[in-house]
Amino acid sequence: MKKSLIGATAILLLAGCSHQAEKVEKESETIHSETVQDTEQQQHPANHEKTESSLTLKPEFFNEIEVINQVPTITNPENLLVLVNKEYALPADYYPDDLVRPNVTFAFGDQDIEKSYMRKEAANALEGMFHAAQQEGIELLATSGFRSYDTQNFLFQQEVENVGAKNAELAVALPGKSEHQTGLTMDITAESVGGMLTEEFENTKEGQWLVSHAHEFGFILRYPKGKEEITGYQYEPWHFRYVGTETAAVLAEKGWTFEEYFENVEKM
Ligand code: DAL
Ligand code: ZN
Repeated sequence: MKKSLIGATAILLLAGCSHQAEKVEKESETIHSETVQDTEQQQHPANHEKTESSLTLKPEFFNEIEVINQVPTITNPENLLVLVNKEYALPADYYPDDLVRPNVTFAFGDQDIEKSYMRKEAANALEGMFHAAQQEGIELLATSGFRSYDTQNFLFQQEVENVGAKNAELAVALPGKSEHQTGLTMDITAESVGGMLTEEFENTKEGQWLVSHAHEFGFILRYPKGKEEITGYQYEPWHFRYVGTETAAVLAEKGWTFEEYFENVEKM
């Protein structure tokens, strides 16, 4: 069921970020499958220009926002640097048009199901990352990629039933406000934690390998420990968002969240 986004008043804004936070619960999911090859990742040429005093980014990589029924809604959701959080929502009917199934090992086996999909560029990068990890003896498991608005709605309601609305909001995004709907995110775990999405993953060699290397493949750990008040979500050592190698390198170097990146980067 799609929501219609009509009757809107519109204002154009630029993406900044949201601030909220706390502790939370977790998503649940399972796991299993295969690995892969390399990519053609990060084709956007020279998105950034770094001067001595400032970091700049091409205008098309910023959110374009229309306030619809009082919700700041992203009108360019296909932007690879789209900032989706508690402040900026995707249109309910946004569905990426280049979803593919990355050839990686899934926690749930080789099932052709919604959460095994990602947008093409992100899928290629994920394959490169899983392949590189495997070369070093690190076996990763992909758990949850793309989710439609309706799937997110179901998961959120389920979480509310399990832990109550307040706690649910710290662990699971409201429908329209999940990065999983962008098709640019994958939750990743390993057999060492039973294929679960758990904080324990941070202590595993697989979790630590990801923290050290994800940026080399264009991924960022989206909800880091200690930044809960900025991201609005509990620490999720399993949730990796594709932003391209160039942007991921900036975040890794500065120690920024994606929100902090957009607080600091200027429009070219
Ligand atoms: N667990 C993350 C915040 C999501 O639901 O998208
Ligand atoms: Zn996630």
